[in-house]
Amino acid sequence: MFQSKIAGIGHFVPEWEVTNEDLTKVMDTSNEWIVERTGIQSRRYGKRHEETTAVLGTKAAVAAIENAGIEKEEIDFIIFATLSPDYFFPGCGVLLQRELGITNTGLGALDIRNQCSGFIYALSVADQFVKTGMYKNVLVVGAEMHSMGLDFSTRGRNVSVIFGDGGGAVVVQPTENKNEGILTTHLHSDGTYAEKLAFLSPGSHAGYHQKYLDEKLDYGFSDETYGELFLNEKMLKDGLVYPQMEGPFVFKLAVQKFPEVIQEALDKTGLTTKDIDMLVPHQANLRISQFVQKKFGLNDHQVWNNIQKYGNTTAASIPIALSEAVQTGAIQKGNLVCLAAFGSGFTWGSALIRW
Ligand code: COA
Repeated sequence: MFQSKIAGIGHFVPEWEVTNEDLTKVMDTSNEWIVERTGIQSRRYGKRHEETTAVLGTKAAVAAIENAGIEKEEIDFIIFATLSPDYFFPGCGVLLQRELGITNTGLGALDIRNQCSGFIYALSVADQFVKTGMYKNVLVVGAEMHSMGLDFSTRGRNVSVIFGDGGGAVVVQPTENKNEGILTTHLHSDGTYAEKLAFLSPGSHAGYHQKYLDEKLDYGFSDETYGELFLNEKMLKDGLVYPQMEGPFVFKLAVQKFPEVIQEALDKTGLTTKDIDMLVPHQANLRISQFVQKKFGLNDHQVWNNIQKYGNTTAASIPIALSEAVQTGAIQKGNLVCLAAFGSGFTWGSALIRW
């Protein structure tokens, strides 16, 4: 068995900066509310008609490939994590392959649908492929173009002020040095509360799931209907085509699961919180990161937060944050880096990396 390491990293965020003040022009919200509850001051939105999720992912991938010092043709597997794909299908993995101009069909492309923990899930899959010797250069990408699918009316303000666009990527390679690389990854899920943070339509549920049954939601579902169940006008009108979130419910679980899954990774490796040089949490909410920081007694230099300027970029948030921390020298060779995430599903996970 090999050990795997992150051999290259890069990120890309669009130029268009949208401040909290800008959002007050389209919905009933305020800079004070957003900063106090989430820590977010601004976020980036992709350029319409030019930047899609696959495009943002590709820009990040180009930087990661260059940073790894390899040619794009050397990539032998692509893993793309996103909740805001260009198309319902095919997934962004193949679109990224096309954007990169990789015509070699000897490689595979996989899409990961694990929302905020998507990057950790993707990294874990890459780790397994590299460890077993199956692949030598796995490109792992997390990218989101949230701004195309948010409800910018006051109805959607609890969700739309939080999210931003961007992409991050890493190249995972084998290493024979047992003192570097991905030490452990931990993945978890619990589908009980799937609809507490979800994007419900279009979909094939036809009113089957608990939320519809409990709330007696009528979208014209009947046994005899053809079509229109996937998406109909009433669903559009009621905003089912936008993400829905019970914020306080998500918050309570997040502050429980983040510490649990970090501790699990430490226990597995026989390390302690004192060994962590840098915690890169999924950028869900600054208050969640601060809670975790306090719980583990970490100082401000041991936790990377950039939600203030990018918002929550879901599958892209960890690779963007990790890339920034590496670029600025906040993560040095030999440092112990901990990644942790929690999000829709619910799914959560962690990884420990000796940089
Ligand atoms: N601007 C102004 N007011 C807003 C608002 C906005 N953007 N969004 C919601 N509100 C209002 C609500 O309508 C509510 O008003 P009411 O008391 O009159 O009903 C009030 O603010 C409180 O809403 P609530 O949802 O309880 O706020 P909160 O303190 O829980 O903060 C979140 C909301 C979303 C910031 C917070 O719950 C959160 O961060 N949850 C976790 C989210 C998360 O991590 N999601 C990603 C998963 S990784």
